[in-house]
Amino acid sequence: KQRVLSGIQPSGKLTIGNYIGAMINFEALQHEHDCFYMIVDLHAVTVPQEPAALREQSESVAALFVAAGLDPAKAAIFLQSHVPAHAELGWLITTLSYMGELERMTQFKDKSAGKDAVGAGLFVYPALMAADILLYKTNLVPVGDDQKQHLELTRDLAGRFNHRFGETLVIPEPFIPKVGARIMSLDDASKKMSKSSPNAGSYIAMLDSPDEIRKKISRAKTDLGREIVYDPKEKPEISNLMNIFAQVTGKSLQDIQKAYEGQGYGTFKKDLGEAVVAALEPIQQKYKDIRASGEVHAILRDGAERANTAAEQTLREVKQAMGFLPPV
Ligand code: TYM
Repeated sequence: KQRVLSGIQPSGKLTIGNYIGAMINFEALQHEHDCFYMIVDLHAVTVPQEPAALREQSESVAALFVAAGLDPAKAAIFLQSHVPAHAELGWLITTLSYMGELERMTQFKDKSAGKDAVGAGLFVYPALMAADILLYKTNLVPVGDDQKQHLELTRDLAGRFNHRFGETLVIPEPFIPKVGARIMSLDDASKKMSKSSPNAGSYIAMLDSPDEIRKKISRAKTDLGREIVYDPKEKPEISNLMNIFAQVTGKSLQDIQKAYEGQGYGTFKKDLGEAVVAALEPIQQKYKDIRASGEVHAILRDGAERANTAAEQTLREVKQAMGFLPPV
């Protein structure tokens, strides 16, 4: 079986970008693969977090994982901070990384732009992410398009480690969906939809109420003209909405284009609103049930146990290869 690992930060609310770009694939991969899905709380603190909010968000994202169809009997669902090996391998991988390659990371450039005090954690973040992946000898990493560069760095670092210390780590492959890997903001199709945007109208959160969802979609920016055609260059706003439509309904872009031939943006947006509501409502219901039951804690305990077993094994091999004297 192939090993799969991915993670989502528990900062802000998860959006349909996270759902479409990552979680749909988490669910799809769990049936045939050995999957580890983690809430990356150690990554979240690279920017300041309110302790109570971090706790609440971590539990909320864990419940959303299950509500979105991740089966704790199949996939290990856990918090990064429950597996100490992440911090430890993170340090070792940091020592293999070059300033220059970390400086080139576009996520770092975006997050640090214009700030006069930039946390060092934000800078070494990609080394910790590489450690996350390498700890599990991961073959496949399901992520959205924005994580591609971090995956390339992870591959470089794994290769560097193996070259220097002997074959120890597995070189992972990114698993990026063909459609939906980059869901754009509802108010500006040149920007990625992001949970950290100050404008709540620019994203649909997975826990937005049906009415909020309908309202946000009806207000979403559209291009000039009135035709529903998929053309990301000329009609980026409508193409983005079509991508969302395709992902939540499973329909192809061609079928959507055909179905709305000769109809204006109004009908299309109304149907899209209903389609997103139909996709999210059952998840929201299940989310409420899981939160009320309190079962998240047992799921996270079990997930951490499985993750620790796998991670400790790799960490031992890494330390052995690097020349750390084993404890007796
Ligand atoms: P994060 O928390 O920003 O996002 C989680 C996942 O959602 C995807 N995503 C999107 N996909 C499509 N359209 C969007 N608008 C959109 N916004 C987010 C992201 O690509 C990601 O797959 N560094 C990672 C977390 C991480 C990780 C890991 C991932 C830490 N360690 C190890 C994989 C393996 C991040 O910040 O994701």
